[in-house]
Order: sequence, then C-alpha cells, then structure tokens
Amino acid sequence: MRLTVLEGQSKVVVMTEVWFASGNNGKINEMKMLLNRLINDGRVQLHHQGELPVFSAPPETGTTFLENARIKARALKAMKPGTWVFGEDSGLQVEGLNNLPGVHSARYAGPKAQDAENVAKLLKMMTLRPMPNRKAAFVSTIVAFDPQGTEHIFEGKLEGEIAKAAKGTQGFGYDNVFIPPGEQKTLGELGLAYKNKISHRAKATAPFIEALEKSVGE
Ligand code: IMP
Repeated sequence: MRLTVLEGQSKVVVMTEVWFASGNNGKINEMKMLLNRLINDGRVQLHHQGELPVFSAPPETGTTFLENARIKARALKAMKPGTWVFGEDSGLQVEGLNNLPGVHSARYAGPKAQDAENVAKLLKMMTLRPMPNRKAAFVSTIVAFDPQGTEHIFEGKLEGEIAKAAKGTQGFGYDNVFIPPGEQKTLGELGLAYKNKISHRAKATAPFIEALEKSVGE
C-alpha cells in the first residue's frame, strides 16, 4: 500500500510500505539501521510479520539460504500482496565443521535452541577437533518481491574466524564468537555500528536499497 503525504506547499513524498518476513529482533534492528536513510526521509515504512494480527511463520524446509529466504518472503507476500515484501535467511558456515551449522544455524543445538545454547554447541564441536580450522563466514540471502510480484535476490558474505570463547554482549546469534578480518575482538564486542559497515546482511542490503530507491524514487 502506498500513502501520499504532502509536505509544505509543493513537495510530494511517496511513502512505501516494506514488509520484513522475520521474527528475529536482532535482524529487525539491523534492518532498521541499514534502511534508516530511506526510513528517516519518509520514503519507506518498515514493517515486520509480528505486526500482523495473525501470522503463522512457515517451516524452513529448504536446504539452501535462498530456498528458505524465498519460503519466508512468499508466506508474507500472501498476506501483503501489492507491497514490497522480503525474507532474509542467513547463517554461519565454519570450515572446520564442513560448513555447519549453515542453514541450521538458528536450530543448531535443537529446534527451540537459544543463541547461548547454539554458541555453546559450536565451541564444543570445535574442541572435538585437535587442530580445528576456525575460518568461518556469515552468509545472508535476501529474497524480495516488489509490488508487482517480481522476485529479486541479493546476497552477502562476511569472512572471519571463530573465537576460542564467547566475548561481548552486543548483537545476536553467533556475534559473540565471530572475529572479523583484521580484528582481535568479536562482533559482540565491536558493536552494531561497526557490524553494519561490513556485515553479510549489510552487503546483501546495499543492492536491495538500490532496487527500493529505483522503485520509490531517489
Ligand atoms: P534464520 O532466522 O533462520 O535466518 O536464522 C539465522 C541464524 O543464523 C540466527 O538465528 C543466528 O543463529 C545465525 N546468524 C545469522 N546472521 C547472524 C548474524 O549477523 N550474527 C550472528 N548470528 C547470525
């Protein structure tokens, strides 16, 4: 849905609703920051699935980030046709664990696992290897549907390594064990402003912002 707002005498700002298929508060906060220029100048109103009176998140049955992002986006698109809708699926791939936890990142320690439980399992799995390869990458795939229903795909990756112990309280998920290139500290210590400059999600969101700008006007 589009709302037209008159500012002063002459300028017309078209506000576009953009719906995010996520129930993860960490991701929602990051997306708000990443899209903040479009939100602050009134071109975009960011909403998420939790604002709907009734919404049942679909099971993530895909075997790739792309499939799961598409499943999320399609489910919300069915509720919000005619608007921009996007889903994002992301995860951590650790070289020494054959790229696990991968698409299972949110559920690594069990179907309802908390972040701390997933991190504890990851660190334990690393200690089971005598000389673990700690190289890792965060991966993010966004599937967006524009108001006409055309699908757009955006991807981003952040390489780094897994710390020997969790450190820092900022962020979510595995941020407290992920050390980005050239740093000694984890993303949990470095904080969101730092993370949003380099993250997998920021890289996937940059071309998404360009597509939104083309659609809503620069
Ligand atoms: P999804 O919501 O199904 O995409 O699950 C993503 C999971 O991957 C999260 O619950 C985290 O465990 C992990 N993850 C994805 N992106 C990040 C990130 O930016 N920081 C830390 N963990 C992440």
